[in-house]
Parts: sequence; C-alpha cells; structure tokens
Amino acid sequence: MRVRVLGSGAGGGFPQWNCNCRNCASVRRGEAGFVARTQSSLAVSANGRDWVLLNASPDLRQQMADAPGLAPSNSTLRDSPIKAAVLTNGDVDHIAGLINLREAQPFTIYATPRVLGVLEANSIFRILAPGVVDRVALSPGKPTPLTGAGVDLGLSVEAFDVPGKIALYLEDASAGPGLGTQSGDTVGLKITDTATGEAFFYIPGCADVDDALAQRIKGASLIFFDGTLFDDDEMIDQGLLAKSGERMGHISISGPQGSISAFSGLDVTRKIYVHINNSNPVLDGNSAARRTVANAGWEVGYDGMEVRL
Ligand code: MLT
Ligand code: MN
Ligand code: ZN
Repeated sequence: MRVRVLGSGAGGGFPQWNCNCRNCASVRRGEAGFVARTQSSLAVSANGRDWVLLNASPDLRQQMADAPGLAPSNSTLRDSPIKAAVLTNGDVDHIAGLINLREAQPFTIYATPRVLGVLEANSIFRILAPGVVDRVALSPGKPTPLTGAGVDLGLSVEAFDVPGKIALYLEDASAGPGLGTQSGDTVGLKITDTATGEAFFYIPGCADVDDALAQRIKGASLIFFDGTLFDDDEMIDQGLLAKSGERMGHISISGPQGSISAFSGLDVTRKIYVHINNSNPVLDGNSAARRTVANAGWEVGYDGMEVRL
C-alpha cells in the first residue's frame, strides 16, 4: 500500500493568501527551513495504479498536477486513476476540491450521512451528477470495501467518530455548547489493504484523544494525525484569530492535554502530523517546537511525502 500526502497544511494552506504572520511572511520570502504546503488531503493506492483520495482540498488541481501517478493513463480519451474519495468532515478544506473532479468522470464518494447531507444541501455539488458519481454512506465502526468506476481498490475503510466539531460555516450558536455537532460530523479513518492486512489511521481533525480513541489506535503501525496548532492559544497570542484550538475542534500538539502527551503510552510506530496551520511554529524547521516534536518521535508531514506499508 502506498500513501501520499497531497497536502499537509490546514485550511488556508501555507502561506495563507491574506496572512502576514511570521511563518507566512518567512515562507513567502523563501527563508531556509520553511516549505509551502497545500491544504489537507492524502491519496492511497494498494496496486500503485488506482487511487482513493482521503479528503478533497481546494488545492486538488495543483496536487494532481504535482503527483504524476494521478494523471490519466494514455489508454483512453477520458480517464482518471482516482476512483474514489473518502471525506472525514464537511469542512471547506476537505470537500471543496470535489468540484475539481467534475466533467462526467465516474468515481465514488464515501462519507457519513451527516457529511453526505452537507453535499446534498449545497447545490453546487450536483455538478457531480448522481448516476455518474456515486455516494456511499459510511456507518461508523463498519469496514466498507472501496470501489469506484467498476474497480475494486483492494482497500477497506472504517470510519469512527472522534471528538470534534461541526464545520465552521454550519456552527449554530443557538444550539449551545456543542454548536449542533452530531455523530458523523467528524470521523477518523482506518484504511486497510485487504490483501496484506496492513492498516493505517488518518485523523486530520480531532479535539481530544479520549479513551475510545486511545484504545483504537494503540499499537498502530502508522497514523496521520491532527497537527493544526502547537499551542492551544497560538492564534490568539499571534493576534490572528480570537479562538483557541479547543474552540476550533483541534487538539494542540503541546501541553498536558496535547497530542504528544496523549500518544506517549500508545505504542504507535510511525506518527506523522498533517493539517498543520500556518500559525504553527513546527513549520519553522529550525524552531524549538520542531525539535520538541522530533524528540517525541513525531514527523512533520510535507506535501509529496510518501509512505509504503
Ligand atoms: C478547521 O479545520 O477547523 C476548518 O478547516 C476551519 C475552516 O473552515 O476554515
Ligand atoms: Mn481544516
Ligand atoms: Zn499565517
């Protein structure tokens, strides 16, 4: 199984179009230690030919151009090796890229009923005509074989609820503390190669590693995990946004409640941060924060990174 990081940035990417924070200014200037990042997505293939996208970011068109294996083969006039897309929530950075996959090309979208409902409620996604682009509902906890355009991808996906929050544009302040969040709004994915049994986890948005999640991922060989913020208050401290990571539905990397601490006893062989926000000091390759995550056994994902399992 091959896993490619198409985009390792969070919503807005790196640099973000309207941002002059220290990181964004530094990457724009081309300073040493800073590398640009597109928005949050992975691609997975069991056979090296047919691919499934895990989330479809607004940068998907560029990401496909940068990944030779995602170009059409030469055998037919219209074709794509992308046979399916699995969505982990309804956030803009995870669904807007579906629009790039128009032009009557068959593939299958897998998501929870809550996220499929978001697509259904936004008429622009009808450009992916039902009948050409299939929608398949994922039931949390139930492994589902991935197929698309008549091809068996040799992979299965299991979605499971993780602590999180409804998409920003769907927040309903009148619904109280949870803002209207329900089961299926934010899921993690376990992807398994059905021939080899090798599996990995993809959890780009997660508010907390609770007991259920810790039990599930214990002993895993590979995980791509929410690396949005280093400090819960970093966006507030940098004057960027008056919201903590907790309020945004993202666990921070550092601190007693952070992911480094939460993973410390979980025996996960390879741990890679993705969905990294432009405010995060780990984006400076020479920072103390970067040394902290490296010393804790974490890798910082980058666009074009490939892992084989
Ligand atoms: C998030 O990950 O919290 C969202 O992508 C934020 C957003 O919609 O900009
Ligand atoms: Mn996001
Ligand atoms: Zn910035």
